This record gives sequence, structure tokens and C-alpha cells, in this order.
Amino acid sequence: MSPTGEPLDRFLARRGQGSWAGVRQLIHRSRVQVDGVATRRYHQRLLGGERVEVDGVVVADGPDTTVLLCHKPAGLACSRDPDDIPLIYSIVPAALDHPDLHTCGRLDRSTTGLIVLTIDGAVTQRLTDPAGKRWKRYRVVFAGRLADDAVERVAAGMVLPDDGTCCRPARLREVDQQEGGGRCTLELCEGRYHQVKRMILALGARVEALHRDRIGSLELPADLAPGQMRAASAAELAALERDA
Ligand code: URA
Repeated sequence: MSPTGEPLDRFLARRGQGSWAGVRQLIHRSRVQVDGVATRRYHQRLLGGERVEVDGVVVADGPDTTVLLCHKPAGLACSRDPDDIPLIYSIVPAALDHPDLHTCGRLDRSTTGLIVLTIDGAVTQRLTDPAGKRWKRYRVVFAGRLADDAVERVAAGMVLPDDGTCCRPARLREVDQQEGGGRCTLELCEGRYHQVKRMILALGARVEALHRDRIGSLELPADLAPGQMRAASAAELAALERDA
């Protein structure tokens, strides 16, 4: 728990007592007690060690599951729309599931790698706001040939021909191309629709496989096999928010 404490509604939401709206209803109806005293203050700060009860049943403290790290496998959509099944939410372990859980940004169905899920809108805002310039690194396998001036065009902020808008300056690195295709890394600090695929296309090649292996300073944790997710540690949270 942070030194400034955790608001009561968040404490309850991340321990599976309901969605944000649901736990606020509980608090509003005086069904929640802190150290034996009923409270109707959603934002009451808990500093750790308080006894929190809902309808007289103690809510156990546990690991903070507000932010989850996931190694997304190919084939799952980052969507809540039932028409898009199979969804990434199908692999959330029951103990970590929550009605407010959502992905911070999206990866395409075929894209693999690091994605963050959270119940905290402030975390989503910080990780996805282009003004925050959170860098993300993609490993790209492509077919065709990248233009000779690809590195410079990406660094200058290239225009996507299909919508005419200018991307933020980005980093194209480790380009290794032979006849008919190759590999590279592309680091972006924004997240437009199909951005990597569209940039690579504009540079003369076509993405065949895409894998995200870093957000901020956080590399995809080695203990996360494809399809696995777990709560982020405090150190991992700090690395997510810090740029490489
Ligand atoms: N850019 C893409 O084209 N696809 C992704 O999944 C992520 C970034």
C-alpha cells in the first residue's frame, strides 16, 4: 500500500467485492465498516492494518491486483464485444477477474506480447495518453524490403498515406533484411490503429508477425509464458511508468 494510503472504494474493488459502482453502493448503504465504524466516505484512505468488513464479514488484504501484466498469445481480441470472441478476458484467472478489468490500449488479434490490464482508469490514462510519450517496443518480422531511408523517415515523424496524418518521431532499429524479407524493431510513443503495420507498409514492406516486448522500461517478464497473466509488482509498476 502506498504511504498516502488507498481509497476505500479501490481497496474493496480490487479484492473482488464488486465493480467501482458496486462497491460505492455498498459504502453508500452503510454496509462497510472500518475498524468497527460504518463509513459512507468512498475516498477514506486506508494506511494498512485496518479491519474492513462488508456486512460484518472481514475483507482479507491480499496482493494488489489493480494492474495485471499479460503475455498475450495470438488469436485473442482485446475487446469486450461478444462478436469478437475469443477475447483476452477468456484467459483471466478467476481470482483476478473483475467487471471493470480492461486492457490499456489494444494489440491486434494476431499480435503477441506484453499488454497491461487494469481496473484503474488513471493507470490506463497514464499508459495510453500520447502526451505521456510512453515508449513501446515492437519486434517485427516483415516480407518485402524496407526503403533505404526508412530509419530517417521514421525518426523524422512519417506521414501515413492512408490518412495523411503525421506520426510522432519514432525509432526504427536493428534492421536486418535479406532478399524478400527481414526483421526490425520499431519503438513508438503513441498507439494509432494498426500503427506498426501501416508504418511498415508505408516503408515498402508488409508485417508478417508482430510481438511487443517492452512498455516504458518494463520488458515482458520472463516468467510469463504466452497466455499467462499476474499482478504487477511495485518495481514492475514503476518500470512501466519510466521510459527506457
Ligand atoms: N501496431 C499494429 O499494427 N498492431 C498492433 O497490434 C500494435 C501496434
